[in-house]
Amino acid sequence: MKNIQINSSRLWHSLMKMAEIGATEKGGCRRLTLTDLDRTGRDLFVRWCEDAGCEVTVDIIGNIFARRPGKDLNRMPVMAGSHLDTQPTGGRFDGVLGVLAALEVVRTLNDHSVETDAPIEICCWTNEEGSRFSPAMMGSGVFAGIFDIDEILAKEDIDGVRLGDELVRIGYAGDAPVNGHKPESYFELHIEQGPILEAEGNTIGVVTAAQGQRWYEITVTGQESHAGPTPMARRKDALVAASAIVGEVNRIGHAYPPNACATVGFMQVSPNSRNVIPGSVFLTVDFRHPDNDTLSDMDSKIKAFCTQIVDDTGVEVDVVDFWHFPPTPFDEDCIAAVREGAVAHGYDHMDIVSGAGHDAVYLNSIAPTGMIFIPCEDGISHNETENASPRDCAAGCNVLLHAVLERAEKTA
Ligand code: GLV
Ligand code: MN
Ligand code: MN
Repeated sequence: MKNIQINSSRLWHSLMKMAEIGATEKGGCRRLTLTDLDRTGRDLFVRWCEDAGCEVTVDIIGNIFARRPGKDLNRMPVMAGSHLDTQPTGGRFDGVLGVLAALEVVRTLNDHSVETDAPIEICCWTNEEGSRFSPAMMGSGVFAGIFDIDEILAKEDIDGVRLGDELVRIGYAGDAPVNGHKPESYFELHIEQGPILEAEGNTIGVVTAAQGQRWYEITVTGQESHAGPTPMARRKDALVAASAIVGEVNRIGHAYPPNACATVGFMQVSPNSRNVIPGSVFLTVDFRHPDNDTLSDMDSKIKAFCTQIVDDTGVEVDVVDFWHFPPTPFDEDCIAAVREGAVAHGYDHMDIVSGAGHDAVYLNSIAPTGMIFIPCEDGISHNETENASPRDCAAGCNVLLHAVLERAEKTA
């Protein structure tokens, strides 16, 4: 039974239909979390799940669960999913593949009239991307008890719009409690978002762990002043100091090859007028590494540099530890189930560590969890040109089906 195959053209058709919602000119997707487009995408997903015979529930943070019943009423569900929200200039596969592949697993089981012992739940987690509202992986973080629900509902976007109000506005402030049910296990299929599988000629990445992340928010405060009459020696230019911090972040990333990553992706300059010396700058820093001690070194380095900048230039620098999670090894049995799926279908595969954060990281703290990667073209994602082949999407989905069945049939 575990060698039944998913319907690859149905999966691809669903991916392309979802990609029409928020489609961009360059072939990507802009479906920011809790916007009208997110609602349209969620509504389509819910309709597809109901058509597949699932019972759909929504929890207080807007996570959607579509349940296919199992034979054993006492069994906890095997969950599979990911997210439907995208980056502002996102692609068609990041997150969406994991959600629609889980739906394809259910549709395939329906086609073959397979009854599993444990129920299966397709999950769509709220705001994985962390772009409109930060931090990332919010819905899964609340579900796993990592984040406090009231703090998350109170988060605001750049225009001061409250997350909780947006959930209500788009009709996805559900009534299911966030800790109402526990998964038996969780699986997530995702594009790799990096170049390794493609370079190695492998179809499946058996994800053994996710690297750790540390996010910071830094505010540099100098003094606004006229760009003409203010001599260079008298300035406290916040943007000059912030630029030095950006340079240092990049140096720190290069100082721990080959695995460290260090990025400043967001910056606001105030007052942002061409003839005013910048008075303040807000910027974000994203550090990643698979080893926690190295992440701690990177942390010490950026903080020491910010102290030095204050001494050297007289600006003020406030560094906030905004969010972090440590390197996360996934569950041995779930990893094995994924590997067996790749072997059973004859796909070339390799072990791999995730460079990106995923909802699976938080699910791993409450249930055995595994992830499956497939290649994406040139390793590019968080980009409108992000691309994956129908063949590789189908392969990943077949492995997901195999792993889900392995757990759903496992003796409790
Ligand atoms: C999520 O997309 C991340 O930043 O890894
Ligand atoms: Mn993702
Ligand atoms: Mn992403």
